[in-house]
Amino acid sequence: AHVLLLNGPNLNLLGSREPAKYGRATLPQIIARTTVLAAELGHRLSAFQSNAEAELIARIQAAPAEQIAFIIFNPAAFTHTSIALRDALLAVKIPFIEVHLSNVHARESFRHHSYFSDIALGTITGLGALGYELALHAAAQQLASMTE
Ligand code: DQA
Repeated sequence: AHVLLLNGPNLNLLGSREPAKYGRATLPQIIARTTVLAAELGHRLSAFQSNAEAELIARIQAAPAEQIAFIIFNPAAFTHTSIALRDALLAVKIPFIEVHLSNVHARESFRHHSYFSDIALGTITGLGALGYELALHAAAQQLASMTE
């Protein structure tokens, strides 16, 4: 199936952005790793990152026409602010996993609330870049059970 890896604002800076919190892996490295893993699991990965809420919404709205069956999403700071992105995911009804590199629950209280967690299949937070790979494994299992 076609899986979309979606990343929100400032994640284009991974590698140099607060490495103690977000790790040393760059976004291109994360995308390369997850693309290989997706192929190993028999799926195809497309990746998109934007600092703009409108572009992320447009990408989600375009997903059904591209037969995207699953989304792995790190909404970054939009996690804590964006009803519009939440509504876009509800509109397309594509299952998704919410991923955060850092443990948002161990940080400032404004990061404890997510507009996505209650509508996500699941959430992975605090496990660094590995979280994207774990999400992909979970997505593959979910996709297999959906086609049973
Ligand atoms: C983040 C956590 C958010 O609170 C923050 O705004 C980010 C990254 C993470 O991956 O840990 O930009 O989503």
